[in-house]
Amino acid sequence: MRTLSDHIFDLIQNSINAGAQNIHVVVEEDIPNNLFKICIKDDGHGIKPEHLSRVKDTFFTTRPRGKRHVGLGLALMDATCQRSGGNLAIDSEYRRGTTITATMKHDHTDRPPIGDIPDMFASLMSSTVENKILWTLEHIYNGKRYTLKNRATKDDLNLFSYTEPGAREKLYELIIRKEEEIHH
Ligand SMILES: Nc1ncnc2c1ncn2[C@@H]1O[C@H](COP(=O)(O)OP(=O)(O)O)[C@@H](O)[C@H]1O
Ligand SMILES: [Mg+2]
Repeated sequence: MRTLSDHIFDLIQNSINAGAQNIHVVVEEDIPNNLFKICIKDDGHGIKPEHLSRVKDTFFTTRPRGKRHVGLGLALMDATCQRSGGNLAIDSEYRRGTTITATMKHDHTDRPPIGDIPDMFASLMSSTVENKILWTLEHIYNGKRYTLKNRATKDDLNLFSYTEPGAREKLYELIIRKEEEIHH
């Protein structure tokens, strides 16, 4: 089964494909208001106005067609949101960037499990060196939050680089600790 972390990871590939340099991800859980919200904001090349109404369509893609299945990322997320009592909003300004906001009812039986947020965040942050992306990764749980940013997190961990041996493990452990903090 596709977890919400899998969906997020997949949608971030769109931002990377769009040449984004800054990507802001917010995962927000608000139990009192029965809300699960995911927001991905990028400064990539955006979506052409004439494509905006079609990007959620199954198999719509502007990527060159290869052997892999394409055009499903937004369609699957949209279907998941609708099944789970929410929706998927896409706000994009051509040449400026895109914001994707997915909402679901937190307690809905069709809402997929959240999946492994620490693993997903650690993968994104430690891929930084190759793709030169500045990340802001946040998880909010009933108003308590943590934020990861490339530079600050690297300093927190006393790392020279996210590629040095053991960096990914240290990062993963840090995120696990931050997860524990917001859940208390
Ligand atoms: N963050 C984004 N920035 C720019 N274009 C995007 C973004 N997300 C989606 N798109 C556009 O929507 C299309 C459909 O996205 P998606 O459903 O994930 O399928 P795919 O990634 O296989 O093309 C993409 O081909 C692209 O044109
Ligand atoms: Mg995609």
